[in-house]
Amino acid sequence: MNVLATELVHLRRGGTSVVVDLRGGRLPRILHWGPDLGEATTADLVSLASSVQPTVGDSAITYPQPIPVVPQLAEGWLGRPGIAGSRRGRDFAPLFRDARSELSETEGRARLRTEAVDEVGLLRMVVDLELTDQGLLCLGVELVNEGQDAFRLDVLEPAVPIPDEAAEILDWTGRWARERVPQRHPLPAGVWLRESRGGKPGLDGSSLMCVGAPGFGFRAGRVWAVHLAWSGNQALAAELTPAGSRLLRAGELMLPDEVVLAAGERYRGPRLLASWGEGLDALSARFHRYLRARPGHPASPRPVLVNTWESVYFQQSLEPLLRMAERSAELGAERFVLDDGWFLGRRDDHTSLGDWLVDPEVWPRGLAPLSSRVHDLGMQFGLWFEPEMISLDSELARAHPDWVFDAGHGPGLPSRHQHVLDLAHAEAFRLVHDRVTLLVDELGIDFIKWDHNRSLTDAGHSFDGRAGVREQTLRAYRMMDELRSRFPRLEIESCASGGGRADLGVLDRTDRVWPSDCNDPHDRLDIQRWTGLLLPPELMGTHIGSGEAHTTHRHAGLDFRAAVAFWGNLGVELDLTAVDDDTFERTAAWVAAHKDWRALLHAGTVVHADTTPEVRLEGVVAPDQDRALYHFAVLDRPAGWPPARLRLPGLAPDRRYEVAELAVGDPVPEGQRPPWMTAALVQTGRVLETVGVEAPSLDVDHSVLLQVAATS
Ligand code: DGJ
Repeated sequence: MNVLATELVHLRRGGTSVVVDLRGGRLPRILHWGPDLGEATTADLVSLASSVQPTVGDSAITYPQPIPVVPQLAEGWLGRPGIAGSRRGRDFAPLFRDARSELSETEGRARLRTEAVDEVGLLRMVVDLELTDQGLLCLGVELVNEGQDAFRLDVLEPAVPIPDEAAEILDWTGRWARERVPQRHPLPAGVWLRESRGGKPGLDGSSLMCVGAPGFGFRAGRVWAVHLAWSGNQALAAELTPAGSRLLRAGELMLPDEVVLAAGERYRGPRLLASWGEGLDALSARFHRYLRARPGHPASPRPVLVNTWESVYFQQSLEPLLRMAERSAELGAERFVLDDGWFLGRRDDHTSLGDWLVDPEVWPRGLAPLSSRVHDLGMQFGLWFEPEMISLDSELARAHPDWVFDAGHGPGLPSRHQHVLDLAHAEAFRLVHDRVTLLVDELGIDFIKWDHNRSLTDAGHSFDGRAGVREQTLRAYRMMDELRSRFPRLEIESCASGGGRADLGVLDRTDRVWPSDCNDPHDRLDIQRWTGLLLPPELMGTHIGSGEAHTTHRHAGLDFRAAVAFWGNLGVELDLTAVDDDTFERTAAWVAAHKDWRALLHAGTVVHADTTPEVRLEGVVAPDQDRALYHFAVLDRPAGWPPARLRLPGLAPDRRYEVAELAVGDPVPEGQRPPWMTAALVQTGRVLETVGVEAPSLDVDHSVLLQVAATS
């Protein structure tokens, strides 16, 4: 630890500079966050500080001040508060002074820790500002009540400044089976606010917000983003003040009295993670590299799995599923996952959540005959749970009606016929925990698909009527943590009706997310593209579904379905006992090809070309740029012909590469192949990115994989 000699600090890592002003004993103020500024002397920083002052909102304040990372009313900040709370109405405008900072530099990150106090309000704030080796900025803020009276905290929402070129917002909307639909518009004066109030970030993807130079794309245009590593209620905002200051911000959204700090108690908010880039690919790469550098990041090859959901739904029985497991092993699968429908009375989605006991009517010998066979076949065994939920029609709810969340009007509206189990009841937590533990232990479960389908709309504790979303989020984390510490090799998938809980908080204790229940490749391609802005491919489950998609009823050929599923942690949701031999063999070929390519797909740099709206071109380039794989897809009929020029991003400009089709399934038909596809093409990376090659004239909902290997 290093008590700072200077009050202007310049952190530089991973191509990012962060310049922080600590003068005056105040909370840190970020003067610059973005591109690396190079070496800077103290005099350079003083000059920078005097010439760049993003200011607090009130121009009447005598000395406009740069905005602190937690903007405060008492410093003239008139925008959305960074901190709000009171002691029964008093101490509502905290002012933090006497800040002391320490800088520590370790492998992986530089950390600037600042502690400041409000001596009148008797509050202490601790701000951890970290810059990681990947150039990601992380902010963690803690509030300590140093008074005797309780302090009710309503908002603790750190903020990072962005420059005035950041004028266009990209964020997302979406719904079940159509997650993360992008929307773009100018940043207006005021606050553009996205809130999640359902006890999870949600299907719309509101846990990420980007603001960039107008027209920014994947490859160009500077852009900044924040994400909150939190799986409960949250607020993300972009703000433009009348004084011209621009901020990105994120914090937990607290319901009334969820955080009341008794004497000496502290609240630590979830991490705000902030990335920037010259284009979205560079922004995204910082998140990906950060995730991949975690000690807990999945290290083994991501197993190809077969999931039973779309093939059998609730129609489970041993014999057909044994056959399915055998066919899965023949296909090359490495994990077999039994989805919803295995527990007491669960014949459809109306009943039984909470009764985590194997149904003896469906499974008279329990699940062991299936799990053992799966293990004997050399595969891992996975099982579906929804531990935070309860059906009113269940043994659990009948025995403990008071364990259902209830804000005072009874259990509230059902959603998918279900309610939420209040894990703040210690016995409820223990009972669910113990039943899951028992099954993991007995069956040797290797993988849990952890679902979460109902929103926490009126989540009050039955014992005192108070709101319990925050506590529920922490208890779900705790249950996952306890399971993982007891079963260190257990992997967990975060699923919430699809991609409703795909944040870096849950990913601290899970190994992949399920981006969507939509396995229709036409829509899935974009769902994966936008989920993948935050998450690298190996953390996303991507499955081959049926020819007619169950969620959209659109038809797609096997090759297109497989080519889209190829890019993540591959899975299959076909009924392998019913498909014809040709489909089986072709699917097996895709599984084998995925295994050949997954080392690249799951470690390389993800790139996207900026294209016309009808087509998509994305790829993964090896870290040493020796090889790459690209996927070109046509989603709509272009007005012109051929559909596009393929500009292959991310290769080393001065190396030469051979480009060829990777035909796992049917090759592109003769009449649709441009001349260069008939013989091997060799070109420099620079030409391939700037000039590109003519695209094959594919039909709608068809795609081609291009393998690229360096020859020099
Ligand atoms: C919702 C999930 O998103 C699906 O994949 C499936 O697991 C069902 N729940 C099971 O009820």
